[in-house]
Amino acid sequence: MRNFEFYSPTLYSFGDGQEKNVGALIRRFGGTKVLLVHYGGDFVKWTTAYDDVVSALNEAGIPYAELTGVQPNPRSDKVYEGIEIGRKENCDFVLALGGGSSIDCAKAVALGIPYDGDFWDFFSEKAKIETTLPVGVVLTIAASGSEGSGHCVITHENGNLKWGIPPTDVVRPKFAILNPRYTSTLPKYQIACGAFDMFSHVCERYFTRTPDVRLTDRISEALMRTAVEAGNEAVKDPSNYAAQADLMWIGNLAQNDSSGLGRIPEWSSHLIEHELSALFECAHGAGLAVVMPAWMQFAMPTGVMRFAQFAVEVWGCEMNWEHPEVTAQQGIDRTRAWAKGMGLPTTLGEVGATEADIPAIVAHRKEKGFPIGFYIPIKEEEMTEVLKLAL
Ligand code: NZQ
Ligand code: ZN
Repeated sequence: MRNFEFYSPTLYSFGDGQEKNVGALIRRFGGTKVLLVHYGGDFVKWTTAYDDVVSALNEAGIPYAELTGVQPNPRSDKVYEGIEIGRKENCDFVLALGGGSSIDCAKAVALGIPYDGDFWDFFSEKAKIETTLPVGVVLTIAASGSEGSGHCVITHENGNLKWGIPPTDVVRPKFAILNPRYTSTLPKYQIACGAFDMFSHVCERYFTRTPDVRLTDRISEALMRTAVEAGNEAVKDPSNYAAQADLMWIGNLAQNDSSGLGRIPEWSSHLIEHELSALFECAHGAGLAVVMPAWMQFAMPTGVMRFAQFAVEVWGCEMNWEHPEVTAQQGIDRTRAWAKGMGLPTTLGEVGATEADIPAIVAHRKEKGFPIGFYIPIKEEEMTEVLKLAL
């Protein structure tokens, strides 16, 4: 295990009805006027979450302004709009209602309000993140783990660049209210995307070459096994509270870094996927179901025993000591089959890309730079190979 620092200051308020605490939590973290960031549209009708939060704010006597219309894979235009509203209305706290898209938009707005320059400077790494307005979250989809993470991903309109900030504890939310009941209104496809996303967050940390990481391996294997079980159950019956509750907490543990401490992570599947969701507008979890198994296929020959461990401990495959690569392959096949079984795409064609698009996808990534990933450093040639394995 390598040396590490872990600072995860988010307060979690978990369970049915916990959204009633939102006013008290905002006050506790110094908020007096809130910018409420959410999807708007049908979402407001489908779930009671919006009405519940607005009632709780009114009851607590906390005034609020709103930024609505956040799209999946949130875009810079909404961030600029939010910064303008937040400044004009003198908001001192940003409250995200929704999932990764609302939360990341809220985080970017909270970075931008107190900053003199363009908020994108933090994504293009022209400026270092030092301060932010405080952010709180009421979560309605278990997936990104942004409710507790130090990450934030935005797509800039200019060039369609889907880039993240360098991870920093500064942007971790002050609190996250996690009511699994809210996720019962999710379309099954979104539940599946979320389950695959959180599974991938664990994979990105699990596939490491750091030795002596037994404890975090076991935490990771438990998270992945439970994501598979709970994902299947919740897709079958979105009103299954127990399954949705598991997913909601896994989503957080998978991405707040508890499973990644003391080891060098991987991350190239995520960075390759960001190109797919930017260019082909697929859901992030769907893009991962295409890329992650293809990356596994690419990487497995360089780490057969780790992939065999994954197959045995996560998927319950029998270890073939004579031919461990057979066991390793079974783990990859089971991962792809799980995604397929939940109704997710597993080939580039299913998200609208063809072999002819591969050079453009790779070139688009080049704008941010290579190499990516740590398990195997990936440059243009390797990224092309991974994408070809997803055809
Ligand atoms: O827009 P509508 O139709 O209202 O649908 C929303 C939303 O668009 C719907 N939804 C959410 N809660 C619902 C609901 N529908 C019914 N009932 C509910 N309770 O779900 C759609 C998808 O929501 P979104 O917020 O986009 O999903 P997710 O949480 O998967 O977030 C994806 C974004 O997070 C980024 C991704 O790249 C992507 O942009 N990520 C952020 C990370 C982070 N900050 O740590 C890490 C992740 O790896 C990821 O990159
Ligand atoms: Zn993800």
